[in-house]
Amino acid sequence: MFKYFDVVRERDPAARSNLEILLCYPGLHALFFHRIAHFFHRHRWFLIARLISNFSRFMTGIEVHPGATIGKGFFIDHGMGIVIGETAEIGDNVTLFHGVTLGGTGKDQGKRHPTVSDNAVIGTGAKVLGPITIGAYAKVGANAVVLKDVPDHCSAVGIPAKIIPPPEEKAEHQIKPAQEPKPVQKIRSVV
Ligand SMILES: CC(C)(COP(=O)(O)OP(=O)(O)OC[C@H]1O[C@@H](n2cnc3c(N)ncnc32)[C@H](O)[C@@H]1OP(=O)(O)O)[C@@H](O)C(=O)NCCC(=O)NCCS
Repeated sequence: MFKYFDVVRERDPAARSNLEILLCYPGLHALFFHRIAHFFHRHRWFLIARLISNFSRFMTGIEVHPGATIGKGFFIDHGMGIVIGETAEIGDNVTLFHGVTLGGTGKDQGKRHPTVSDNAVIGTGAKVLGPITIGAYAKVGANAVVLKDVPDHCSAVGIPAKIIPPPEEKAEHQIKPAQEPKPVQKIRSVV
């Protein structure tokens, strides 16, 4: 429990006290209810699990299916409008903002929701759809619609989401002056 306070303080500069986190962070309440609902789901008490999950949704605006698996250090900021599907898998230290959907495309059976790897951040309003994988330390931009895997350390932005490599790789891909074609070098020397 006390670890969770540190998780919130690390990722939300607006958090001022543990009491405030305990009383005013719906992500904490949703996670608490989910741990109980998931316990019942694992023991095949499906209806009780769904009832707890529905009560949690009513209280927090965050809908987490009891079957979803969620790792340690999970942080939901704001929370309202989040939907996490039954076969979603969330690693450790993942952050979600409000309005995120970890959903299905409607085309898959069985495992049909995303896997979010450790330390990934999913921006507000992003829709991550299908049994795809968001890599470790990956970032999904606000309002992106992600339909394909996002590699580790990369970002994904836009609709449909495009992959942006991490800054060091971006620099490698940029054309250095010496590699520019001759006419471009000539124009540069004139300007
Ligand atoms: C995507 C994000 C994580 C930044 O990732 P990054 O790898 O550091 O990306 P950069 O800031 O270097 O931007 C790379 C490109 O993506 C664009 N971009 C960034 N965020 C974008 C978004 N949400 N949608 C569309 N394009 C976006 C930038 O304009 C930039 O484009 P350019 O190369 O043509 O200039 C961040 O912009 C974001 O959306 N964070 C979500 C945070 C959030 O939800 N906050 C809610 C608080 S209540």
